[in-house]
Amino acid sequence: MCGIVGAVASRDITPVLLDGLRRLEYRGYDSAGLAVVNQDDEIDARRAVGRVAALEEIVNGVNGHLGIAHTRWATHGRPAEHNAHPQLSSTDVAVVHNGIIENHQELREQQLAAGYTFTSETDTEVIVHQIDSHMKAGADLLSAVQKTVDELKGAYGLGVISRHAPNTLVAARRGSPLLIGLGEAENFVASDMSALIPVARKYMVLEDGDIACVKQDSVQIFDQNHKPIERKVLVSTLSDAETELEGYAHFMKKEIHEQTRAITETLEGRLGANTVLEIPLGKNAKEIFDATKEIKIVACGTSYNAACVARYWFEEFGVRCDVEIASEYRYRKHVVNPGTLFVTISQSGETLDTMAALDMAKGLGYTNTLCVCNAPESSLVRASDLTIFTHAGREIGVASTKAFTTQLVTLMLLALCLRRRALGLDYDGDEVEHEIVQELRSLPNQIEHALSLEDEIIAMSKHFADKHHSLFLGRGMHFPIAVEGALKLKEISYIHAEAYAAGELKHGPLALVDKDMPVVAVAPNDELLEKLKSNLEEVRARGGQLFVFADAHSGIVSDNDTMVLNVAPVNNHIAPIIYTIPLQLLSYHVALIKGTDIDKPRNLAKSVTVE
Ligand code: G6P
Repeated sequence: MCGIVGAVASRDITPVLLDGLRRLEYRGYDSAGLAVVNQDDEIDARRAVGRVAALEEIVNGVNGHLGIAHTRWATHGRPAEHNAHPQLSSTDVAVVHNGIIENHQELREQQLAAGYTFTSETDTEVIVHQIDSHMKAGADLLSAVQKTVDELKGAYGLGVISRHAPNTLVAARRGSPLLIGLGEAENFVASDMSALIPVARKYMVLEDGDIACVKQDSVQIFDQNHKPIERKVLVSTLSDAETELEGYAHFMKKEIHEQTRAITETLEGRLGANTVLEIPLGKNAKEIFDATKEIKIVACGTSYNAACVARYWFEEFGVRCDVEIASEYRYRKHVVNPGTLFVTISQSGETLDTMAALDMAKGLGYTNTLCVCNAPESSLVRASDLTIFTHAGREIGVASTKAFTTQLVTLMLLALCLRRRALGLDYDGDEVEHEIVQELRSLPNQIEHALSLEDEIIAMSKHFADKHHSLFLGRGMHFPIAVEGALKLKEISYIHAEAYAAGELKHGPLALVDKDMPVVAVAPNDELLEKLKSNLEEVRARGGQLFVFADAHSGIVSDNDTMVLNVAPVNNHIAPIIYTIPLQLLSYHVALIKGTDIDKPRNLAKSVTVE
């Protein structure tokens, strides 16, 4: 999703801007651009559709000490050079913008009446004209931005420069993350600290309504009432180590294979001999768990699928659990029972809908808020009473893999902590907890085994590459795993993939089954196996082609219409984590055959910071 980088320094900042944009590529975007104030105090701007590499080809000779840059993910106006950012008002002011301005139409009409002309279909162009109009009326750059944001409705993270203020970068935020990186006699602005890894360790996070006036040797921040305010200086722990492919063809493949190590990290220091330890989950964890009677989980995308799996665990353990998509949750009324813990799940910690849902939940009487997150320096973490980090390490591939399985592991730890309270057990848990803890310890080995099935999965993937539709089936806690498998396939191979609870097959999707629609099924050896087998017979009877990920003892065997991939027997509680791996590999290898842009699938973004 859109990314912002800005810099003011004594050196030429074009390379810094380009490097920052490259580091933000993982968020997903469709065009890129930059603008600097050059030595003649003129704005020099370049924009290109497609990758940052395309922008690099056209920035020869663009030099300056002050500049802004952007990767755009289209919302208003198609991906095109004239819609890319920076947006300019004549040659005077340039703006980069993340977010959506809701009253852009009204402002556009006023500006047209005042004689401004428009060169884009973006909502952003009204911002730059508005700033320009205030400057033309005598305001300096900072006060022009202050006046402008007071007139905007909607969400924004802004970087603004003007040729009339050749030493000043103004940044403003409401509803869209923005931070200030502090260098040595040079300062930066970015929507995500990963853009600034080589140039700044220290940073300040802007809060909603803040406007910053950033110069080479000073940063002044003003709050929403335009009063000067201090923001805490933090030190970033991000490093470059995880942004290298290390010999893999794609980050997605690397991240699938990293799951053994990632899950080891998730568990590190959190397990006692037989139990889950609570103190390492956070200093207020015990107090928050003690106050929890039931939970509400809100999330988006893959994180939502993780929540759907965890609901089975929570409810089996006696903890009432409700799960909802964030974009739906935030637009309806709620009844909140006393003792309800509000849980968000997010790999990025920046998903706008999830953040907005949390903001809304805070006024609704939830007892506490907890976030399951992979990004230590993120908005959701800052806004939650407690965060349990997933410790997956940086995930670059847009299609989430290790972030998902580590979310599942983290949610299991949480479920076991709440189980003790629900069942009135003491700190030593009970046999069930002891058994699950041992299974969790064995996860890295079991994942290694699942990864070793890759060659068989490559053979299977060949049957999908020429297909346009597919169906994924699962039952119980493997229904959301089927949903996640279908999501992966559609995200990166662009094959339409739909997931169904296998028991629902006969209520509709069976009508679609024929030899051209592969049917994937997840078949662990649990209490629903026999039911699932009957559902698979329904598919076979209609000439469907089955691809079954089955427990080695399931009794499901390959034949002309059925290709079975045997998964080593695994404890039922952690089976969803293991069965995820072959589904990830399947989608990866289908996409590889199809030659799609696996790490940056079309139209998608890693971090979705608009509604
Ligand atoms: C985007 C990403 C998905 C992710 C979803 C929710 O769509 O491409 O991989 O699952 O956002 O993101 P979050 O960061 O909140 O988990």
